[in-house]
Amino acid sequence: VTTAKAPDGAQSSTIRVGVLGGTGHAGREACRLLLGHPHIEIAAVSSLGRERFEEANPNLRGSGLVFVSHEELLRRAGEMDAVVCCTPAGVAMTAAREALERGARVVDLSPDFRFPDVAEYERIYGGSHVEAGLAAEAAPGLTEFHRDLIRPSRLVANPGCYVITAALALTPLAASGTIATGSPIFIAALNGTSGAGGKAHDRLQHGNSFGATLAYSLSGHRHRREMELAIERASLLPVAIDLSTAHGNFARGIFLQATVPLPMHTNFTRDELLDLYRSFYGDGHRGEHFVVVNDAPRRGERNDKEYGLYPSPTDVLGSNACHIGVDVDREVNRAKIVAVTDNLGKGAAGSAVQNLNVMFGFSETSGLTAYGL
Ligand SMILES: NC(=O)c1ccc[n+]([C@@H]2O[C@H](COP(=O)([O-])OP(=O)(O)OC[C@H]3O[C@@H](n4cnc5c(N)ncnc54)[C@H](OP(=O)(O)O)[C@@H]3O)[C@@H](O)[C@H]2O)c1
Repeated sequence: VTTAKAPDGAQSSTIRVGVLGGTGHAGREACRLLLGHPHIEIAAVSSLGRERFEEANPNLRGSGLVFVSHEELLRRAGEMDAVVCCTPAGVAMTAAREALERGARVVDLSPDFRFPDVAEYERIYGGSHVEAGLAAEAAPGLTEFHRDLIRPSRLVANPGCYVITAALALTPLAASGTIATGSPIFIAALNGTSGAGGKAHDRLQHGNSFGATLAYSLSGHRHRREMELAIERASLLPVAIDLSTAHGNFARGIFLQATVPLPMHTNFTRDELLDLYRSFYGDGHRGEHFVVVNDAPRRGERNDKEYGLYPSPTDVLGSNACHIGVDVDREVNRAKIVAVTDNLGKGAAGSAVQNLNVMFGFSETSGLTAYGL
C-alpha cells in the first residue's frame, strides 16, 4: 500500500483512513462510502461501547471491519493518513490534537472547529474550547467554495448538513449582491430523524415519530449563526438569516426552502435567476459536479402545480448531490430557493470524502459517483 501524507496534492494510489465514531449515523455512512472508495482503505474504526461492527452496522455485513476503542484508534493514528471524526461536539477537540501530533490529517464533522473564534463556539455549544489555536487554523470544509484552503490543510472543519445545504442554496444570490438588506432571509428546513443523531429521545422513537412532523429549536437554532458565517465566508458579503426547522416523517434527507428579499429595483424573472445560478455553478459537467440546478422550463399556466420545477429530498438520497430549484414571486419581490441534500451524504460523510479527495489529490468524485436512490 502506498501512502500519501504530503499535502502537496500529489496523487498516490491508496491512503489509510481511521473513522472515529463508527456506530453513529454519520460514521456508519462514512464507512459505507470509504468501503467503496478506489483509493482509500479503512485503517480502523472506533466505538465507545459497541463490540461488533457488523452487528452495529448490519448494512455493512461482509465488510470484515471490527471496532477498536477510541483510545486505540488515536494511538494508531501514526499509521493513518487521515482520521475522520464523526463524534458529538467536544470530542474531536482533543482527538484531533492527538491525531495531528501523530501525523494524520483530520476531517471533523462535528462543530468543534467550525468557529475560528472559540468564544462563538462556547456561546452556542457551551463548555470551554480547549484548542483555540487549532480552531483558528482549521480550513472551512465546504468543498465547493474552499478547495484552495482544504487542499493543503491538516485540519478541515466540515459544516453541518443544514449549513452545507443553505450555503449552496444562497451563496450565488449573496455573492451577486442581490439580497435586500433590512429583513433577514427566511429559511424553513425539514430534516430526517437521522439529523437528530443517535441519542435516544422518546419523541423520535418510531412508534411516536412515524407520521409526525416535529418542529424544534425555534427560539434560537444553534446552526443559524453557522449558516450566516458559511455564506459570508463564501460570498464575502454579510447576510442575516431567520431559521425554522423540523424533523419530517423520513429517516434521512434535508428539504430546505429559503425566501429571499430582493432589492426594490430588481425585477428578476425565474429565467434570470436560473442564469445567475447556472453561471455561478457552471453548466452541467463543466461546472460543479455535485451541485445541480433544476432548469426544467415552466410549461403550465400561473398556479399550475408544476412539481418538476423544484427538487425533492428523494432525488438525492444515497448521493453526494445538492439539487437546487429557484423561482421568483413577483407579487412580493422575493426569490424562492429550494435545496435538497442527503444529510448523511453531502451533509456529512459525502462531504468528508469529497474533502479527503481534495486533500490527497484524488479526483473529487472518487468514491462518490452514485446517483440518488
Ligand atoms: N446526523 C447528521 O445528519 C449529521 C450531519 C452533519 C454532521 N453531523 C455531525 O456529525 C457528528 C456525529 O453525528 P451523528 O448523528 O452520527 O451522531 P451519533 O449517531 O450520535 O453518533 C455519535 C458517534 O460518536 C461516538 N461517541 C459518542 N460519544 C463519544 C465520546 N465521548 N468519545 C468518543 N466517541 C463518542 C458514538 O460511539 P458509540 O455509539 O460507540 O458510543 C457514535 O459512534 C456530530 O458532531 C454531528 O453534529 C451529523
